[in-house]
Amino acid sequence: MKERMLITGGHPLQGTVRVSGGKNTAVAVIPATLLCDEPCTIENLPDIDDVRVLVDILQSLGARVDYVPGAFMTVDPRPAEGREVSYQDARKLRASYYLLGALLGRCGEAKVPYPGGCRIGSRPIDQHLKGFASLGAETEEIGGTYHIVAEELVGSDVFFDVVTVGGTINVMLAAAKAKGTTIIYNAAKEPHIVDLANFLNSMGAKVKGAGTDVIRIKGQGYLHTTTYAVIPDQIETGTLMIAAAATRGDVVINGCIPTHMEALTAKLLEMGIRVTDSDDAIRVRSSSSGVRAVNIKTQVYPGFPTDLQQPMSALLTTARGTSVIQETIFENRFRHMDELSRMGARVRIMDRTAIVEGVEELHGAPVTTTDLRAGAALLVAGLMARGVTEIYELEYIDRGYEHIEQKLCSLGADIHREAIC
Ligand code: EPU
Repeated sequence: MKERMLITGGHPLQGTVRVSGGKNTAVAVIPATLLCDEPCTIENLPDIDDVRVLVDILQSLGARVDYVPGAFMTVDPRPAEGREVSYQDARKLRASYYLLGALLGRCGEAKVPYPGGCRIGSRPIDQHLKGFASLGAETEEIGGTYHIVAEELVGSDVFFDVVTVGGTINVMLAAAKAKGTTIIYNAAKEPHIVDLANFLNSMGAKVKGAGTDVIRIKGQGYLHTTTYAVIPDQIETGTLMIAAAATRGDVVINGCIPTHMEALTAKLLEMGIRVTDSDDAIRVRSSSSGVRAVNIKTQVYPGFPTDLQQPMSALLTTARGTSVIQETIFENRFRHMDELSRMGARVRIMDRTAIVEGVEELHGAPVTTTDLRAGAALLVAGLMARGVTEIYELEYIDRGYEHIEQKLCSLGADIHREAIC
């Protein structure tokens, strides 16, 4: 059933909210359970569509999955004989490509169609395949499906030409059970890389250096049971921080990891927003006098995350002055700007740069989500706009944000969903 969201803007967000488990960690850790030789349990998973699709994929491979949303997921991978992911499942999310590394590590063979997910750029996976090849696997691409086979996976040096989160994770998955040691050079350093390493190590894997640009993985023949809780969602935390700032609110975000948020916190402080933190909470307070424009350049971690560029650009539409946003990671991540323009934003795009001239206020309008974080940008814009904003194509938002409107409403937002006839 198609739905739309109606947001009546202009309510300052106030109160306390708890951040959910990390989407981009969850979508790596769930496929990684296939590497375990015993049942294992994951906690703190976000209740989002991407997680539900991965449950379907594990079950289609033959794994036994006991999933209680909001509580735990126990996966018994032992009966899983399947090696192939269907097109219907693979096209639903980007992270279906992690089944390549996980199945390769588990049984030396994987058949996975080219993944779906947000259309924010061409998103090749040549570096993943290059990594698998270094470990001795051969890839054949037939009719949009990768068929990867390795008679024996043998640890090796993998040099990435570009820093890639997906490539780093995929090679870690394959290498966890390879013979010998794999060294990944120019590895991604995002928090979910560290979390995946911690998960693998909790099963007895030997992964060292995650969080730096050189990761060493000593393959293990047997990985044992574990119970593991994934880290809080860095991007949901950032989205809530931005929403608090955009509505001139005062919000405490509990259960987060403030050190993961440093690039965003620095920018919000530069804009004149008050941000304070403790061990696992961040408080964001914005004054009624408004915020200053800033320049943003997206970069790999610990730089400013591309996933927060879109919600941040919504906030900048009403900042005092002109902001320059450079998107260096994905070439097509400004599609939300046309929608923000419908709401009165003044934006010019030149290739990978957006120039945002701050306006007094946005006004509500019907807008359409084009990808997950575009959805977050439209939510932020709707919360700050005068009047009612209608957001269409909510499935993007539901893929990655757990109960987002309930969370925002608990802070005083006026949001509801309705079916579209
Ligand atoms: N790239 C290549 N070749 C490759 C792999 C990547 O050229 O083999 C390029 C990409 O085209 C891009 C850059 O390298 O320009 C970075 O891509 P990366 O592989 O790091 O991104 P990803 O694995 O496709 C993940 C997240 C994204 C997040 C990026 C960057 C998941 C499932 N996806 O994507 O999350 O934006 O890392 O941090 O973890 C989102 O959550 O909304 C989202 C899109």
